Amino acid sequence: MTTSEIEVFGPDVVEKARALVERYTADARPGADAQQRAMRARSALLPMLHLVQSVQGYVSQEGIDFCAEHLDIAAAEVSAVATFYTMYKRRPCGEHLVSVCTNTLCAALGGDAIYAKLSEHLGVGNEETAGEPGEPGSVTLEHAECLAACDLAPVLQVNYEYYDNQTPESAVELVDALRSGQKPAPSRGAPLTDFKSVELQLAGFFPEDEETYRSQVDGSSQAVETLRGAALAQERGWTAPVMEDVPLPEAGSK
Ligand code: FES
Repeated sequence: MTTSEIEVFGPDVVEKARALVERYTADARPGADAQQRAMRARSALLPMLHLVQSVQGYVSQEGIDFCAEHLDIAAAEVSAVATFYTMYKRRPCGEHLVSVCTNTLCAALGGDAIYAKLSEHLGVGNEETAGEPGEPGSVTLEHAECLAACDLAPVLQVNYEYYDNQTPESAVELVDALRSGQKPAPSRGAPLTDFKSVELQLAGFFPEDEETYRSQVDGSSQAVETLRGAALAQERGWTAPVMEDVPLPEAGSK
């Protein structure tokens, strides 16, 4: 590891990186050779990218080299993955990442207007940060594709937690609260923390004591709108037709 990587990623991060590799190789078949173990170890790349992002708020060149070294793969392979998925950021993010859904349904119901209003209010464009990245109150704005909450459109997320049924005004209120250090409760799901803390969770690391763990990740994820169809069916006594057990075709005839 180079000196600059050691400075960026301290011993605790190195320990976590090793734990990730161990997590993916621990149950390798008895007698698995070095090549098979290496193949399994590379499965740890996605969480490891979240791990380096939890330190720097993005995947830097040092982060790419760090993953490559711990997984014994080429930096180009790490780079190819990091640039493919939108959750890996190539520029430092703010304390909070605000993702506004501008996909079809949200856009039609006001998502475009919300994005335009926030962009104007914060004075930033897509994937740009208002404030100093990583500093308290800094906010990175981004367009997002469908966030799988179309029944609650238009929606936005802060650090991947949902804020449903938004308007340009409520979105401005939300980012103003974030910028002043508040953490307004999401519509559902876990309480709001910050981008780097969420990245550590995405890497698979959680507080050890049960109470802190629960307080960070628990929260009701259901919404009235999402359950409306099931509630109507229950009120009216509707049931789905019984499915007949159809045997699967023979493998050879597929
Ligand atoms: S289009 Fe916005 S959540 Fe699906």
